[in-house]
Amino acid sequence: MADIMAAKIIGTGSYVPDQVITNDDLSEMVDTSDAWIRERTGIRARRITETGTADMAARAALKAMENAGISGDELDLIIVGTSTGDWLFPSTACEVQAAVGAGRAVCFDLSAACSGFLFSLNTAAVYLDSGAYRTALVVGADSLSKTVDWKDRSTCILFGDGAGAAVLRREESAAGTEKTRRGNSEDPAGPDSPGAPESLESGGIGPFFMGSDGNRSEYLTSPSTSLRNMFVEEKPTGYMAMNGQEVFKFAVKTVPEAIGHVLAQAGLAPDDIKYFVLHQANERIIASVAKRMKQPMEKFPVNLDRYGNTSGASIPILLDELNRKGMLRTGDRLVLSGFGAGLTWGASVVTWQASAGSI
Ligand code: COA
Repeated sequence: MADIMAAKIIGTGSYVPDQVITNDDLSEMVDTSDAWIRERTGIRARRITETGTADMAARAALKAMENAGISGDELDLIIVGTSTGDWLFPSTACEVQAAVGAGRAVCFDLSAACSGFLFSLNTAAVYLDSGAYRTALVVGADSLSKTVDWKDRSTCILFGDGAGAAVLRREESAAGTEKTRRGNSEDPAGPDSPGAPESLESGGIGPFFMGSDGNRSEYLTSPSTSLRNMFVEEKPTGYMAMNGQEVFKFAVKTVPEAIGHVLAQAGLAPDDIKYFVLHQANERIIASVAKRMKQPMEKFPVNLDRYGNTSGASIPILLDELNRKGMLRTGDRLVLSGFGAGLTWGASVVTWQASAGSI
């Protein structure tokens, strides 16, 4: 009888640079204050890289691989969710491949801004569940400090640099004893949805939801560094530009919708979820989602006070913190959810399974 596979997270890792910029430091650079930043965002400090995205990604990757107890030659696939690769090419994933000794792996980057890790995780899980590959490294890494105008107080206060990673492995089992759940963006209907299987009991990634809306792309943009002067002359600066209020409204609407979508598909209620691991952009956004989900803030871990918005890195850094603090147990249901430029947004149910990677 053919085996049925489920991709599981077997290790996590993260890395943030040493250099800290506090709100007080920022108030010496732009017209802002620690009180304003804390009240509007919850952020107290952020980290700034001196080495770049690939270096941070590789450091997080090596920690995740150590946590999973695997070596580079066991990796079949590396996906890095990033929008701030150090080079247009090679991809950050190929740089990580060289750094971690994953000579056999196929490697590529995935561009979905702050949703980058979430989209990469779902993409890798689908590859693994299809049987195409067995072991994958998924990294979210970004250096938004390179893209912000440090004279623009409306954006520079929000972002920081970092990387987080997860190792995924497809476990094989007898047909019928283990099934994964997958979703698509159109049909939240439940067990009959395409790819939605029957049981979450054995752990895994999914169901998931991913959304995109290019019609609202102007809410959050950043021109490619090397091309910006050629193609974007109409823009007054070559830096990130953001309509903060529209992004805020977009986030507090789409994140609860995406979470509701995957919960319905999984047949779970919000009360069944141990932690909602949300993209760390603004504590007020997280509080609004908690309120809409009628869930206590204790179920919404926060680390943006220390790191700011690390874009594609924020969800895996937070997941790694939960894992390393021993806060995750076999069978715990987590919801990962993010949003960002594109616009992009999404959510995934992750059923945790103690493994080599558990602390
Ligand atoms: N320090 C002090 N004052 C600031 C400031 C700063 N860093 N940034 C903006 N202000 C001022 C504005 O100029 C404005 O002044 P005015 O009333 O005299 O015109 C006032 O504060 C209010 O600005 P506003 O933009 O309305 O604030 P806000 O409550 O919407 O908060 C954000 C701004 C950016 C914190 C908020 O909109 C936000 O977090 N949006 C989501 C952004 C996001 O998450 N982006 C990443 C997505 S992945």
